[in-house]
Amino acid sequence: MKIAICPGSFDPVTHGHLDIIRRAAAMFDRVIVVVMTNSNKVPMFSREERVDFLLRATRDIPHVEVDTYGGLLADYARQKQATAIVKGLRAMSDFEYEFQMALTNRKLNPHVETVFLTTTAEHMYLSSSLVKQVAQLGGDITGFVPDCIVEDILRKNGR
Ligand code: PNS
Repeated sequence: MKIAICPGSFDPVTHGHLDIIRRAAAMFDRVIVVVMTNSNKVPMFSREERVDFLLRATRDIPHVEVDTYGGLLADYARQKQATAIVKGLRAMSDFEYEFQMALTNRKLNPHVETVFLTTTAEHMYLSSSLVKQVAQLGGDITGFVPDCIVEDILRKNGR
């Protein structure tokens, strides 16, 4: 069985993330979406909230599971016997950082390959940070995130 991990902060999950998760689910037997800590970012949503958003947003995607882990991705991949870490690449600006993480993860766990899926043109510009900024400043976030979490994001921003 080929197991893949889709790791990220998912703060919050966007249509761009869901596109990558759907495509990974078509390539692997089992896909584990794991909410992790990015030490460079201060999240708006708790890990529990982010897991809940993902559970609701991925309900209709077969053989996708949602989990959370506070440690190293390389260790998590080992525990789950995953053969791949799937990440989305939007632009060259993502590349340097993602490349560095992929090489670090390979050093820490040589049994797991990082696989990059290029984002669809439609989601090229989309990021969780952008969604949070738009929400904080009173803009319309429908179309950026799944409908089932729009209210939660607005509520968190006092709307
Ligand atoms: O969605 P993000 O913020 O780009 O995801 C980055 C994330 C959470 C996948 C990365 O920070 C990570 O792997 N965190 C877990 C801790 C870890 O393994 N750090 C070393 C990465 S080389």
